[in-house]
Amino acid sequence: MMRKGKNMSKIIDVKDLCKTYVVNKKQNNVLRNVNFSIDEGEMVGIMGPSGSGKSTLLYTVSGMDKMTAGEVTFNGKNLSKLKENEMADVRLDEMGFVFQQMYMMKNLSILDNIMLPAVKSKKGDCVGNTAGNKSASSAGTDEAKKAGNESAGEAAGNNTVKNSGTDKGKKESRKEIRDRAISLMHKLGIEDTANNGINEVSGGQLQRACICRSMINRPRVIFADEPTGALNRTASDEVMDEIVNLNNEGTTVMLVTHDVKVAAKCSRVLYIVDGNIKGEKQLGKCVNPSQVRERERDLNNWLMEMGW
Ligand SMILES: Nc1ncnc2c1ncn2[C@@H]1O[C@H](COP(=O)(O)OP(=O)(O)O)[C@@H](O)[C@H]1O
Ligand SMILES: [Mg+2]
Repeated sequence: MMRKGKNMSKIIDVKDLCKTYVVNKKQNNVLRNVNFSIDEGEMVGIMGPSGSGKSTLLYTVSGMDKMTAGEVTFNGKNLSKLKENEMADVRLDEMGFVFQQMYMMKNLSILDNIMLPAVKSKKGDCVGNTAGNKSASSAGTDEAKKAGNESAGEAAGNNTVKNSGTDKGKKESRKEIRDRAISLMHKLGIEDTANNGINEVSGGQLQRACICRSMINRPRVIFADEPTGALNRTASDEVMDEIVNLNNEGTTVMLVTHDVKVAAKCSRVLYIVDGNIKGEKQLGKCVNPSQVRERERDLNNWLMEMGW
């Protein structure tokens, strides 16, 4: 797929987005006419008090959750116009997801977990054995859904899509996927954990594995909800360095965090209160590590103005 390169274009455009939950007949208007857009290549942080709607915003923008009203355009597609299976394909092929609780398959190795989204992607068109065989019965669960893997069960069977002969249907073998997974793991410094179970690695390693998995289908955008929330400072810094690297290589990032140090690495920060964007802070790309302190101070001052 062609990337637009330096030519800035909106990859996400959100217009009057509303999300209302009804619990015990009481309406909770969690998002109230939210408007913003994200340019390709940006790294946008979402901050705000607990319960202000940050996670809900991330889930509705990424199509994991249905919006009540409004419009989200993702990479030129109006998400509310997509059928369920089309939305699933967009999530699988064009979006990567990283969460605080890591939804990995317990019965798969780290490597197989990372490979799974590629094995099931129609775009990748994997032939032969799949990584998902062991998990065929469990892969359609909520865990899989959170990981953007909701059709993992069917893909784990023998559901290979025929090569259409166009270049989007280029066949990718299990070996190619495996090589790509290993090279991602190498890049994120966890290649030694390939054959470990998910309980046999540290929290920081597991989160880096999640990032590898989110990147395996070369998404346009990574959505991350408190990706460092469960990590200590060192592991958090390491994970953030990886996300910043991926962003510098062109992947757009939308990331929810309550951590000023994490947000200071974003190119722009939106502050949300009561389901509305109250303000935004432009920080620019974080290219020079020596600027981090100053960016944090700058962001802190602004957050105080916002009422943080
Ligand atoms: N699945 C849900 N059903 C009902 N209410 C929900 C659901 N998810 C979130 N909410 C409510 O939406 C509000 C915002 O939640 P959330 O987006 O998780 O906030 P944040 O991530 O900023 O802490 C809260 O009042 C929460 O109780
Ligand atoms: Mg949240």
